[in-house]
Amino acid sequence: MSKELKIVIVAGARPNFMKIAPLTSAIKKFNNSEGATSNGRSINPKNVIRYVFVHTGQHYDVEMSEAFFRELELPDPDVNLEVGSGTHAVQTANIILRFEEVCLREKPDLVVVVGDVNSTMACTLVACKLGIKVAHVEAGLRSFDRSMPEEINRVITDSLADLLFTPSEDADDNLLREGVPINKIKRVGNIMIDTLMGHLKEARLGRPYERYGFGEKRYAFVTLHRPSNVDSKDSLILIMEYLTRLSQKLGVIFPVHPRTRSRLVQFGLWNISNNSNGLILSEPLGYHDTIGLVDKARFVLTDSGGLQEETTFLNVPCLTLRPNTERPITITQGTNNLTSLDRLGQDIEDIMNGSNRKGIVPELWDGHTAERIIGILSELNFKNMELSWQ
Ligand code: UD1
Repeated sequence: MSKELKIVIVAGARPNFMKIAPLTSAIKKFNNSEGATSNGRSINPKNVIRYVFVHTGQHYDVEMSEAFFRELELPDPDVNLEVGSGTHAVQTANIILRFEEVCLREKPDLVVVVGDVNSTMACTLVACKLGIKVAHVEAGLRSFDRSMPEEINRVITDSLADLLFTPSEDADDNLLREGVPINKIKRVGNIMIDTLMGHLKEARLGRPYERYGFGEKRYAFVTLHRPSNVDSKDSLILIMEYLTRLSQKLGVIFPVHPRTRSRLVQFGLWNISNNSNGLILSEPLGYHDTIGLVDKARFVLTDSGGLQEETTFLNVPCLTLRPNTERPITITQGTNNLTSLDRLGQDIEDIMNGSNRKGIVPELWDGHTAERIIGILSELNFKNMELSWQ
């Protein structure tokens, strides 16, 4: 008898798309191997995973959303909640209201959420209250800093989710310490590395740094968008002064997130910075250009979560402008170092003098995370006909 697992997959913001793409591919492969079509809507398959792909619309600009669908060959969303921007309360509330309708209509067996954005937390809350099981991909990461909205999203999501797919041992330890039963925790590796490995060849072929007139290792790649760095005028002025000074000896490519751009304009820094030679402020870039630039950068300065992991995988020195990280393995095993505005000058100098350390690629960051996830889901459903991890 054929059995079907119906899941709703949620994505909302830019960093989610790289985590969803390998999942949809792995489902396609699973269904094909079971005799069904890619999204499970076919006749007489043995076992199928059918998915409804929901985009909450948390990110909506072409460069923040649509561009990634094309490059990562993501299927079009079946539903777009079009929530857009707002305060955390407004954005979260809108997602909750609109996602509940989707769950009531679709009646999935499982909702799959990824990462730590507002969409992740809001959709988890809705599903749980409706008695629908939730699986969280990239579970267990903790910065232990509740001033970051993402930390609150992580804690809430993990405390409610039924199945926690973790990227590394530290994540398992965090969950166990919080009292999560061990049978809910499945260490599957880093799903974003699946996407990175799948697209690296193409990203390298583009040699995007040449478009900016730089050679390999002749520039730094910068991304900064956290409220703690860019919402304060004083800290943004200091950051731009550092970058301007750095650009006198090394190229600087800085694709500017919409939040950062609006602060640069608001604080009167946009035109000054843009007129400085060697400092290139660009629109947000697509996936291939970003990876192509990171890969050949002298170093990366960032406050993004994903870039800390991508630089570790690519063995590129990374300075993370934050007092903490939820991804400590990028420091203990990879190429990442935390920095602050007080130390930034010295830390850059050290890298320029070649005193950065070599890292290793953490275990299970091997390109097969999505397959492991789909393997676990299919076994739970098809062998036991119920989600039996509780
Ligand atoms: C969100 C995530 C953050 C993630 C980041 C990646 C939360 C709490 N934060 O932060 O974890 O690292 O995405 O980009 O979920 N805007 C646009 N166009 C867009 C999207 C946003 O112009 O497509 C502007 C709006 O003015 C908005 C601001 O950027 O107010 C911030 O967007 P928002 O989604 O609230 O948070 P991010 O800073 O992007």
